[in-house]
Amino acid sequence: MNRFEGKIAIVTGASSGIGKATAARLASEGATIVLVDINAEALEEAMPAGEGHIALPCDVSDEAQIIALVDTVKSKFGRIDVLANNAGVSCSHAPIMEVDAGDWLRVLGVNLIGVGNFIKHVGAVMAAQNSGAIVNTASVAGIRSGAGGNIYSASKAGVISLTQTTACDLGGYGVRVNAVCPGLIETGMTKRVFDYARGAGKEEKLGKRCELRRYGHPEEIASAIAFLASDDASYVTGQALPVDGGNTASLNLPGMKV
Ligand SMILES: NC(=O)c1ccc[n+]([C@@H]2O[C@H](COP(=O)([O-])OP(=O)(O)OC[C@H]3O[C@@H](n4cnc5c(N)ncnc54)[C@H](O)[C@@H]3O)[C@@H](O)[C@H]2O)c1
Repeated sequence: MNRFEGKIAIVTGASSGIGKATAARLASEGATIVLVDINAEALEEAMPAGEGHIALPCDVSDEAQIIALVDTVKSKFGRIDVLANNAGVSCSHAPIMEVDAGDWLRVLGVNLIGVGNFIKHVGAVMAAQNSGAIVNTASVAGIRSGAGGNIYSASKAGVISLTQTTACDLGGYGVRVNAVCPGLIETGMTKRVFDYARGAGKEEKLGKRCELRRYGHPEEIASAIAFLASDDASYVTGQALPVDGGNTASLNLPGMKV
């Protein structure tokens, strides 16, 4: 498939995990990628094969940096066809009585305000060109409890809501906005969980609570992002697609699965 031939795609959180896999997938289908991440060193290592891709370090929680980045992309390429709005951070699973005050601003700043400001500034470019597709990375944690800490889950529920409201704002300009909601995926964000389970000899339990009874891989999220960003999804907007091995499809009570 060459669904992104000649297209310019921004991927945030591209240094690692789902973002890195998404950059590779979109590039493999012909897109020129603008890789964005706060981790500048790892960005260079995440560069997909092929010509023309660029790395632009950016802290997505800082609107001024987003404005400068979008200006740079506009002057270099003249257009933006795809935004994979994916950078994110996690937080502790502490009960609400014990959440850290600093975590609210840190997590919402990246996961929600950063996502919103990217839609704002890239959406303006897409609206002016009357085309474009935005795919936000939310989470099953934004749909159900039990998959992330309180603040993380609230931030991802916010991303799902933003996906719906901004799809309304931008739909009249031919710009689609959707989200993916990954289940448990092995990435930098979940490394501690995987390291712990493997260290404790409990690897076979990882991902077992979803219907497919396994955890997912970054490439499986990247392929869903590529679908939503492509013309194959030309009549899909405002939707949040769980890509979770069926996790959100059931009550998922511990001990119910064999
Ligand atoms: N791994 C999972 O199980 C899982 C499940 C559901 C949703 N997600 C979401 O997937 C997205 C990607 O995460 P991942 O799992 O690939 O983790 P990851 O840690 O491997 O990748 C996240 C990337 O975001 C970057 N980042 C963090 N803060 C940033 C900032 N302020 N500005 C720019 N870049 C920043 C990091 O440097 C990193 O490269 C996140 O939004 C995460 O919440 C992950």
